Amino acid sequence: MDEDEFLRILLSEERKAWQNPSDILLRFGLTRGQRFLDVASGPGFFAVEASKMVGERGYIYCVDTNAKAADICVQNLSRVGYRNFEVIAQPIEVAPLPTEHFDVALVANVLHDFGDPVFVLRRVYESLRSNGVLGVVDWKKMETPFGPPLSVRLNEEESIRIIEGSGFRVVEVINSYPYHYLIRAEKR
Ligand SMILES: C[S@@+](CC[C@H](N)C(=O)[O-])C[C@H]1O[C@@H](n2cnc3c(N)ncnc32)[C@H](O)[C@@H]1O
Repeated sequence: MDEDEFLRILLSEERKAWQNPSDILLRFGLTRGQRFLDVASGPGFFAVEASKMVGERGYIYCVDTNAKAADICVQNLSRVGYRNFEVIAQPIEVAPLPTEHFDVALVANVLHDFGDPVFVLRRVYESLRSNGVLGVVDWKKMETPFGPPLSVRLNEEESIRIIEGSGFRVVEVINSYPYHYLIRAEKR
């Protein structure tokens, strides 16, 4: 699959049937006025909904290593109509991150991709305020009609070990979606 096709799929309306961004962000407790960090945001499937939810007094900060995805994310966020966002086209391992700043951080469909996921989540931990929420969404380690190969997926227990190994307290595991699990964790 080429890059354009991949970015198109990431933004497709059909995706909402099996991964609903506003429902997922609500489950992670995102509310009006909050500061939201989208780690590896892609073209903004979650960030756009997050922007609508936090409103003009909130703040959206997206990081993605892919410059094209980051550009599309800027366009999509601009269309929401608020100007309170920033999109950084850099790897999350080196991107500038403010300290003790965000209320909610999202790591969606990407934890399994990081070379050193504990390093990444420790950076995210530092960037969250006390009791801030980390929401992880990732592919169940089972056959699904699409998605990454089984060999690269992390099962729930592996993800929980990474999350706890980064300092977080796991609060809830949600299994209501067909292909993904959701893990809500908090900064201690
Ligand atoms: C499967 S997409 C998921 C995008 C988005 N989170 C979503 O669910 O729609 C994975 C994204 O992670 C980005 N990515 C992978 N490794 C990254 C890294 N180390 N730092 C920042 N972005 C990364 C890729 O460029 C891609 O846009």
